[in-house]
Amino acid sequence: MRMVTSVAGMQRLAQRWQRQGVRVGLVPTMGCLHAGHLSLVAEARRRVGARGVVVVSVYVNPTQFAPHEDLAKYPRTLAEDRRQCRAAGVDVLFVPGDAEMYPRPDGAAFSTYVVEEGVSQGLEGAARPRHFRGVTTVVAKLFHLVLPAVAVFGAKDYQQAAVVQRMVRDLAFPVEVVVAPTVREPDGLALSSRNQYLEPEERRQATVLWRCLQWAREQVRAHPHGIPVSVLRAAIKRRVGQVPAGRLDYVAWFDPETLAPVKVVKRGTQMALAVFVGRTRLIDNARME
Ligand code: PAF
Repeated sequence: MRMVTSVAGMQRLAQRWQRQGVRVGLVPTMGCLHAGHLSLVAEARRRVGARGVVVVSVYVNPTQFAPHEDLAKYPRTLAEDRRQCRAAGVDVLFVPGDAEMYPRPDGAAFSTYVVEEGVSQGLEGAARPRHFRGVTTVVAKLFHLVLPAVAVFGAKDYQQAAVVQRMVRDLAFPVEVVVAPTVREPDGLALSSRNQYLEPEERRQATVLWRCLQWAREQVRAHPHGIPVSVLRAAIKRRVGQVPAGRLDYVAWFDPETLAPVKVVKRGTQMALAVFVGRTRLIDNARME
């Protein structure tokens, strides 16, 4: 496995692959890799085949964090990430620094951003203004640098995947965006690098997200004609409130394609929620089925 740290080095390599007709699969990450990321790597390998190359990028992207968020304490575990990538058969680990991704060689501020103005507006976009501007900017730049045929994202970040898909469509990136299923702990907690922040008791309580998703699914099954969002939202708020460390940030039900909010929840509606467990903010989502 090769490790590349410069933008110019990555670009040269990608251009050579392009000339040689090598199919490239990209898994963009912020590191602190876990089994969820490795499932994305496996999916990228399936898509590009043994003759293709799989690139994993590890970059904690500052522009997608608000000033009060966890950029400084976000776990950075490069040696372990490297070990896991090598074991998973990754070909290239791309680890650029901030000066590479947000250069200011003449001292002037980095000032070019990619902004999606539709599916990025609600949910995480409403709770974390400018978050998706950071995501689309860095993902667009990674696409330019790595020139992937396929890029694999996790379904846990449902809206992120939708935003990237929309950007790819609107700006005609020649990239197939693949969304791979969420990997869960045996008790249902979705794997996330932020789970590391949880104290043992908070970790136990963090299953509340999955329990809420399951409970909502049961309600939808029991009411085939649909249930008003207002009823479900009040119940979810109560359920999260019963967890000592839990605080609901938002819960929403929406059309899985357009992400437009619905008033009545039926089978096929998508549900997403964000919950603070102690000081850790976790997100999860599921289709109502
Ligand atoms: O999902 C993530 O880890 C990040 O948002 C991404 C896609 C790597 C962009 O920084």
